[in-house]
Amino acid sequence: MAHTHLLLKACRREPVDRVPIWLMRQAGRYQASYRAVRARVSFLELCRSPELIAQVTAAPIDEFGLDAAILFSDILIALPAMGLDLSFEKGEKGKADAGPHIGNPVRTRADVDALRIPDPDRDLRFVLDGIRAIRHVLADRVPLIGFVGGPFTVASYAVEGGSQGFTRLKTMLYADPRGAHALFEKLTQAAIVQLEAQISAGAQAVQVFESWLGELGREDLEEFSFPYLARIAQSLRRTGVPVIFFATGTSTHLSPIGKLGYDVISVDWRIPLAEARRQLPDLALQGNLDSTLLLGPRETLAGRARQLLEAVGHEPGYIFNLGHGIQPSTPPENVKALVDAVHAFRP
Ligand code: CP3
Repeated sequence: MAHTHLLLKACRREPVDRVPIWLMRQAGRYQASYRAVRARVSFLELCRSPELIAQVTAAPIDEFGLDAAILFSDILIALPAMGLDLSFEKGEKGKADAGPHIGNPVRTRADVDALRIPDPDRDLRFVLDGIRAIRHVLADRVPLIGFVGGPFTVASYAVEGGSQGFTRLKTMLYADPRGAHALFEKLTQAAIVQLEAQISAGAQAVQVFESWLGELGREDLEEFSFPYLARIAQSLRRTGVPVIFFATGTSTHLSPIGKLGYDVISVDWRIPLAEARRQLPDLALQGNLDSTLLLGPRETLAGRARQLLEAVGHEPGYIFNLGHGIQPSTPPENVKALVDAVHAFRP
């Protein structure tokens, strides 16, 4: 019945009876059920347990009736297999958030050359077993989206050692462009083998999270990012699985992004989605509600969702989502209200 899933139809720009909705970071700390799991295991233990992956991935489907599940994992999950010492630490000064930390960040050409391409069947078996367990739990109610991080975004953590900005990585582009290309090459290969393995294990669509790509200007995008992103899309063509591209802060580059070979472009809230559609008439779009609306009054949330649907929901090729991930302080009732509002709309 996979061919009838709304999300997959929307990815292929086929007509739908109603607009599909899923939300980036739909499994996470805003849910009591997730916090209960995290009270018992660390974030990485959770990411490495196929059974818990399946439980946490399915929870928002059961709770809110979302139209797709997204693999519970992290864009940095392959870094240990590549030779980097990854941990998630409690934030400083009593901040509750667990941020990523890399003990041996990539700083020299020798560090880049030492990175290994992961073998998913050996090194990321827990992800692939997790995917099989999710498919079993979902029983084809909704499709499963797999994902990886884009080369630039993963490199920013690998080089900076955590969420420390982009200065070291961007300096590397200018001071050692060949080293930077070698790094992006390895991260591209790692992304491709992971997505291929996720698809073989049962992922029915995949998304590339290139969250911080908006840090780069056009010249650097063209030299250091677009060729690699195009290769990822190109490599997955033969699988027939739809590929979604997500970035933030890149609405000034939509037209070249539309030429990279992705089926769906996920757009952030900085551009009206109807304007994005005019720039990308031949692709499916995903987005782009500001996630902060989920914190505010429910009437405002429902009103903005309705406006978005009226603007772009009547044409095929639209997937309702946020412009970026759900915030941990989101009231779950508001997520339910949003899903209900989107489900009530008729294209
Ligand atoms: O969307 C989903 O529901 C799937 C799961 C998912 C997680 N991370 C779970 C997670 C996905 C798709 C990601 C992607 C990811 N991870 C990105 C790109 C997406 C984005 O939001 O821009 C990035 C930059 C990361 C790296 C990462 N992981 C950071 C910077 C952090 C700390 C910040 C934070 O939100 O806590 C994480 C941790 C993380 N990844 C959590 C979750 C649910 C929180 C961990 C916890 O339970 O404490």
